[in-house]
Amino acid sequence: MTSFKIAKFQIEGGKALDGEVQISGAKNAALPILLCSILTSEKVVLKNVPDLADVKTCIQLLEDLGKKCLYEPQNGQITLEGAVTSFVASYELVKTMRASIMALGPLVAYTGKAEVSLPGGCAIGARPVDLHIKGLKEMGAQIRLEDGYIKATAVGLGRLHGGHIIMDKVSVTGTENLMMAATLAEGETVIENAALEPEVIDLASCLNKMGAKIEGAGTSRVVINGVEKLNGCTHAIVADRIETGTYLIAGIATHGIVTCHNTMPSTLDALLQKLRDANALITVDGTSITADMRNRQIHPVDVVTAPHPGFPTDMQAQITVLNALASGVSSVTETIFENRFMHIAELNRMGAHLEIRGNTVICEGVASLKGAQVMSSDLRASASLVIAGLAAEGITIVDRIYHMDRGYEHIESKIRMLGGDIKRIY
Ligand code: UD1
Repeated sequence: MTSFKIAKFQIEGGKALDGEVQISGAKNAALPILLCSILTSEKVVLKNVPDLADVKTCIQLLEDLGKKCLYEPQNGQITLEGAVTSFVASYELVKTMRASIMALGPLVAYTGKAEVSLPGGCAIGARPVDLHIKGLKEMGAQIRLEDGYIKATAVGLGRLHGGHIIMDKVSVTGTENLMMAATLAEGETVIENAALEPEVIDLASCLNKMGAKIEGAGTSRVVINGVEKLNGCTHAIVADRIETGTYLIAGIATHGIVTCHNTMPSTLDALLQKLRDANALITVDGTSITADMRNRQIHPVDVVTAPHPGFPTDMQAQITVLNALASGVSSVTETIFENRFMHIAELNRMGAHLEIRGNTVICEGVASLKGAQVMSSDLRASASLVIAGLAAEGITIVDRIYHMDRGYEHIESKIRMLGGDIKRIY
């Protein structure tokens, strides 16, 4: 019998991080942008693509659909070419990466048909896809849920038509999926209450390079005038603001000094404000951000997550570690996902005093955390455990780090460059 060992991180904590880190391209921009290549048979060259498990899953999905993909991880470049020859995104791939749902819009827009398995991904709540489905119906897709698949057909000569879509709730991938579908629909589509995330803007900018006519991306009203055909393009993926925030917080939690290069400070306003409130000395210089926490005490900060430009839910777990180590009491409220506190019990195993009350965590700061064996439950939860391990006294073992590999490029080497003691063990 083959034994399958799941990788863990072993972290020896207590060392102040000190150094510089290059920020990678954003996972949440790379995935929709990879999938938007479905909309053309021409060559799409993507640069600054992070080397991540989710990116590899996405390439596999595109190859399954018939695209030719040349992946050069050492250059951060992917070249995609050729028309899709299939319209089925299988359960095997979709279950590991929820973002695969974003194949639905481009597939039905390009081929007139799509079958995409209902998604899996991070276990952070129910995460329905009703808004994606409702929007596509508004554009003339007929949709059935059958055998665990969403089966969509564009009625009316196989082409979607424009629609007026009012999103009941702000959804990032929902906005992206519908924006992609609308690029090839006949006529004008308006998406109201659209997500404002920088990754939506990056996708729109890539689509516009491909010949799409999208206006208003980054505002709550996006207008897309459908075109007959999209062409190829070259596009560099925007910097990962969540990776940036994660390294800044790791520096602060360990009372060190960390500079993140090649990032986009303007996408991080809400987070940087909270880090300043936490008493970090934050300086911004062009595309670099430095957090200096040497000889400074962490102050507690109250945080409420919200869609962009509010405080990102993807930074909620990491900032909770700062509050766990702060000099006082604070609260962290999660408003986007209903089950995103799985890191709390693990942080408490490390000596934190955190209490979940409904969708809020009350954080009573402690002087230090202690190394322990802890378990990752999802991508950002695992980042919080790694930060806690770096700040804690003694050795921390973080289990199931495959979650972290989904979203953080070269995590061990980047942390080691900053002076952290982390290794992958089996
Ligand atoms: C994206 C990000 C994820 C981030 C999240 C919120 C990607 C690949 N992932 O996820 O990292 O945590 O935005 O910033 O970009 N909802 C519905 N119906 C739908 C769709 C969503 O009710 O059809 C709800 C969700 O359950 C959630 C809220 O809307 O409560 C926001 O979710 P959404 O923005 O869609 O998250 P994702 O796009 O999946």
